[in-house]
Amino acid sequence: GKGIAVFTSGGDSQGMNAAVRAVVRMGIYLGCKVYFIKEGYQGMVDGGENMVEANWSSVSCIIHKGGTIIGSARCQDFRERQGRLKAAKNLVDRGITNLVVIGGDGSLTGADLFRQEWSSLLDELLAMKQINAEQRQKYRSLHIAGMVGSIDNDFCGTDMTIGTDSALHRIIEAIDAIVCTAYSHQRTFIMEVMGRHCGYLSVVAALTSEADFVFCPESPPPEDWQKRLCDKLEQERNSGQRLNIIIVSEGATDRNGQPITAEQVKKVIVDNLNQDTRVTVLGHVQRGGSPSAFDRILGCRMGAEAVMALMEADDNTEPCVVTLDGNQAIRLPLMECVKKTKAVADAMHSKNFELAVELRGKS
Ligand code: F6P
Repeated sequence: GKGIAVFTSGGDSQGMNAAVRAVVRMGIYLGCKVYFIKEGYQGMVDGGENMVEANWSSVSCIIHKGGTIIGSARCQDFRERQGRLKAAKNLVDRGITNLVVIGGDGSLTGADLFRQEWSSLLDELLAMKQINAEQRQKYRSLHIAGMVGSIDNDFCGTDMTIGTDSALHRIIEAIDAIVCTAYSHQRTFIMEVMGRHCGYLSVVAALTSEADFVFCPESPPPEDWQKRLCDKLEQERNSGQRLNIIIVSEGATDRNGQPITAEQVKKVIVDNLNQDTRVTVLGHVQRGGSPSAFDRILGCRMGAEAVMALMEADDNTEPCVVTLDGNQAIRLPLMECVKKTKAVADAMHSKNFELAVELRGKS
């Protein structure tokens, strides 16, 4: 059977364990040897106990757990050729030529670069007599299947990334909790949510919690936002509402790209309306807790499809990323999706917000 290794990389997200579980079980079911690579790319570089064979029961009782049981890390060593050389040797030693990577766009890009370099890494290992000619030939192709694990939902090519739905559950639970206390004291609350430069979490959270105002990165508010915000809050209070909820995305800016922070928003409200106002930064709570049913099944489907893709791969197969498209698990060319995702990020950096929204919409 084929040698497959699975690892999680970058920020963790709920549902990664379901994906890991599906890879292990689907792989074993199809007669493969499946390995865990622990602590992301660092485990690939270090080998040893960080690269161990998985069995059917090593993934029992993990589907309900948040985070990733095999650990995740941002790895400096893998950015150096020396590190990648060690990683290649560790893979060849174990007969692994198939990688399932679960992470964000940075982690997926790393896997693609590694694959492009694979031949030259093997040549170097051969020249150093760390592998033999037979191994050089047998393990000549590296195959990659990616899955997107991130709470941000910022990846082009998929309707949802693994973890986003659970993070939304956390956010909504938190807002519902805050609403009770806000109601009692007739307060205004500003909730800061994650998402980097993607406003998905903030906008969906705002829509589903009856928030009064939302600041999201892709759609910076008009220049007179302070007045509009205050008018809106006043209008709601005048119509009998006892509280106000405002959602601020951590990546929110004005039209010039200057950050709009929860504290700034608070100051505007206190100075102009004298409302009793509090800020709640949800932080990593959003990335924790158990995965929703949606993220569990998403992880399962993506994981099984990733293994299928690897089973069908030959020497000429390009790396793919398994995504969700209209409730279908599909395979897309990995680098095309990464490129599109980068184009959105570039548009955001150059403050071309309309283009960013257009590019995101197209994907
Ligand atoms: O990408 C996921 C994410 O949770 C972002 O929403 C957030 O900006 C970032 O990671 C936080 O990173 P760290 O866990 O390194 O603090």
